[in-house]
Amino acid sequence: MLDPKKYQKDFPILARRINGKKLVYLDNAATSQKPLTVVRAMEDFLLKHNANVHRGIYALSEEATALYENARKSAAKFINAGSESEIIFTRNATESINLVALTWARQNLKAGDEILTTEMEHHSNIVPWQILAKERGLELKFLPTLPEKGILDLNKLPNLLSSKLKLVCVGHMSNLLGTVNPLVEIIGQAHQVGAKVLVDGCQAAPHLPVDVQKLNADFYAFSGHKMLGPTGIGVLWAKQEILEATEPILGGGDMIKNVTQTEATWNAVPWKFEAGTPNVVGAIGLAAAIDYLNDLGMKNIWQHEQKLVEYVIPKLKAIAGLNIFGISEVSKNRGAIFSFWLDGLHPHDLASIFDEAGIAIRAGHMCAQPMLSALGKPAATRASFYFYNTLAEADAFLDAIEKAKKVFKL
Ligand SMILES: Cc1ncc(COP(=O)(O)O)c(C=O)c1O
Repeated sequence: MLDPKKYQKDFPILARRINGKKLVYLDNAATSQKPLTVVRAMEDFLLKHNANVHRGIYALSEEATALYENARKSAAKFINAGSESEIIFTRNATESINLVALTWARQNLKAGDEILTTEMEHHSNIVPWQILAKERGLELKFLPTLPEKGILDLNKLPNLLSSKLKLVCVGHMSNLLGTVNPLVEIIGQAHQVGAKVLVDGCQAAPHLPVDVQKLNADFYAFSGHKMLGPTGIGVLWAKQEILEATEPILGGGDMIKNVTQTEATWNAVPWKFEAGTPNVVGAIGLAAAIDYLNDLGMKNIWQHEQKLVEYVIPKLKAIAGLNIFGISEVSKNRGAIFSFWLDGLHPHDLASIFDEAGIAIRAGHMCAQPMLSALGKPAATRASFYFYNTLAEADAFLDAIEKAKKVFKL
């Protein structure tokens, strides 16, 4: 069993005091904290190996290129991609999803075609499709949820499948509900009608083992900053044959093979999708983050988070007036993201009580407004845990709710 306290030592920020109390960081779904090894790897690169990649025929540039391309190999291995050439570095998951919209989807979808997303998606997996649908005369459909159960309504899926459906966009784990979606089933059904599937893995990749080959998705997007890496680096994985057949959207240095005054030919994948100088130091930070996660073992991380689910859910259920959003039973189909509504108190008022106690949680719409509308609420309070969070921190979180109830006489 993983001992979270042991790992807290690797994260200097977790020793901070906020409002006189030791920080309890429970906003990991927004961004994770960074261990020293990630910071040191980036520092080491900038102080000892910095040069532009893929260009210079000198030792430093070759070192920088090797480190950057090794980071791609680490990312590929982390999600069991077939090859590192299926890994495109982006700024974040949002950019990864937009890249699919602006390239593959723009090139392959025509007026009247359909895209299916779901009611529980992050705005990043809705808005790019709304923009594209308007531009190209596509129809954007939504797979509904069963809001009170916190799961997708899979019974509605067969009616949404047809030869017009070209793309299904679904989250691996909901950032509001913590629900882990039954991807194998959804992907299987989508493929039967010839639709491709994009998985938003932003909340799953940091917390559970991901195997894109086993899932048999077509695209998988995630962000480095939610999995111990720095901001500004993300990944789009796509099947090699899709990338080969897709035209790039950004033109410039590095993405070309040959340029004349009138035309250009493209570099091989993945570089044809990485125009200009990439975020080399970000990729190196991400590789160090992946090393750290691999040392812990993704299975162990998920197991610890399941322990948190087992501990927190029954205690949240016992609080009068508190409605849990998402699966409100102990379940293997949810991660340690706890969003809720406390009757009589706006999430922003609740958040200030947490802040006084040195506990960082999130209040607001969590970039999931369609899901909140389905739940009939304008906002939520969310505590999202990671492997470095202890059961004692879960107690501090639960105590703060009780305190808020007393302060506001609920
Ligand atoms: C499920 C999900 N998808 C996409 C995103 C967007 O991530 P980023 O802001 O790193 O692009 C988030 C961020 O919270 C998320 O939780």
